[in-house]
Amino acid sequence: MLEVKFEVFLMSEDEKKQAVEAHAAKKWSGMKVASHGELFDLSKLPCLIAVSDGEVLGYCYYHFSGDTEIELIAMETIQRGRGAASLLIKAIISIAKKNGCRRLFLTVTNDNTEAMSFYQHKGFIMCGLRIGEVAASRKLKPGIPLVGYNEIPILHEVEFEMRF
Ligand SMILES: CC(C)(COP(=O)(O)OP(=O)(O)OC[C@H]1O[C@@H](n2cnc3c(N)ncnc32)[C@H](O)[C@@H]1OP(=O)(O)O)[C@@H](O)C(=O)NCCC(=O)NCCS
Repeated sequence: MLEVKFEVFLMSEDEKKQAVEAHAAKKWSGMKVASHGELFDLSKLPCLIAVSDGEVLGYCYYHFSGDTEIELIAMETIQRGRGAASLLIKAIISIAKKNGCRRLFLTVTNDNTEAMSFYQHKGFIMCGLRIGEVAASRKLKPGIPLVGYNEIPILHEVEFEMRF
């Protein structure tokens, strides 16, 4: 791993627009993300950004779900393998704890085996499988592709959690 100096901070609306919205809109085919029957507008969510020497390495969007849970809605590293995702996870755990949350959770689709592997490596536990749920998400966001990573049909949602 390269030796890099990171900063992770919560972005203001202006910083968000300038720094990551173009990346996010490209990655998620727009600023709306559908998951477990809900549609999230990334542009309205708080966002953490990992920066090294002024360069954006990655970002994540999250929201509070009730009083005691925090949900990671979308995360991407623009430069992979430099530790930005680890740092973003660390930062969101710290935000969760500061706000009295007892659980951090997220959803990935069944094709995203890389993310499933990454989150388990980081200590998340697989806690739910929603068979066929992507069909419901597609009703909210018709642009969700039918086929994802490694030509795997995108059909199911897998939930991961970390409890404190
Ligand atoms: C998943 C993703 C965020 C990981 O980002 P990354 O830049 O590779 O992550 P980091 O460099 O911070 O990796 C940190 C650690 O995770 C490990 N890791 C990275 N990818 C891994 C994988 N696929 N399986 C297991 N461990 C993995 C690294 O070895 C490293 O381990 P260490 O902390 O013990 O040294 C990135 O691949 C990505 O942006 N994917 C596309 C978007 C996406 O799928 N997001 C998740 C769904 S919201």
